[in-house]
Amino acid sequence: MAIEDFGDKVVLTSNTSSTTTATILKYGATVTSWKVANVEQLWLSDGAFLDGSKPVRGGIPLVFPVFGKSSNQGFENLPQHGFARNSTWEFLGQTKENPPQVQFALSPEQANVDIYSKWDKGDNDFTLILTITLNDDNLTTNIEIQNVDSKPWKFNWLFHTYLKISDIEDTLINNLPGETCYDQLLKETYEEKAPAIDFNHELDRIYKNVSTDKILQVIELGKVVHNVKRVNLPDVVVWNPWTEKAAGMSDFQPKDGFHKMVCIEPGYVHELYELKPGQSWTAEQIIYKGDAIKLQSI
Ligand code: BG6
Repeated sequence: MAIEDFGDKVVLTSNTSSTTTATILKYGATVTSWKVANVEQLWLSDGAFLDGSKPVRGGIPLVFPVFGKSSNQGFENLPQHGFARNSTWEFLGQTKENPPQVQFALSPEQANVDIYSKWDKGDNDFTLILTITLNDDNLTTNIEIQNVDSKPWKFNWLFHTYLKISDIEDTLINNLPGETCYDQLLKETYEEKAPAIDFNHELDRIYKNVSTDKILQVIELGKVVHNVKRVNLPDVVVWNPWTEKAAGMSDFQPKDGFHKMVCIEPGYVHELYELKPGQSWTAEQIIYKGDAIKLQSI
């Protein structure tokens, strides 16, 4: 069976290979696992809460309607990264048989009321539709954000993707030289000069308005191990917490697990996007397994 609903989670299995699967927790509509030929592609903390008591530490948490913390009017009371990752989404069911595809929805009725009520006093009416497709060499997550209100409102969107790697110290991210970067640790904006991003300490950067022709590739010891393609997602957050930050996160386990993960997070976060009544906005992340795409340099 290509789609199985286990109550708290949904599992998709490829029609062509029983060892290619995706698991989506209804809480946060968080993809917690994506395996290609039995090889896990996503990092999930051993200490992640999967019971709906906390956003999942790992997989692909969804960030809406704000990235990080914002002092903008209407956002100032929202916790970091909003409420999409802390709400139990409605499973709409299977929308395609081959390749297996499912949809999830979130609107104010399902949203975590404690957090949603902190966004403009819970006055914004919206519908989010998340479509997940398990292809043989990629996992596609598509988001449609609809304004079903009688007034405009603003938002950020981001796929907070935790990719699994063998060792962060052997890892590079390509295709970012020349891009404008806001370093969240230095609190400075500069042009990226490094030919590739390497890691030897905590890193938390927002690359802004990166052409979507550029595939973000994770390269380990010269081999492409992940490819991240974006549609209508101009910004890319690159994050690794390293030793101290990992030590401070109770759900980050094992503590040296930062060696095994890198977050490449496609989003719309350089500013808030204003959506007018009756309008919708769509975007997509497509993550390909390593050898699906050759090394790209634009
Ligand atoms: C990243 C941010 O997207 O998420 C980091 O750039 C943040 O600043 C990280 O630390 C994790 O956030 P959280 O809320 O899941 O601990």
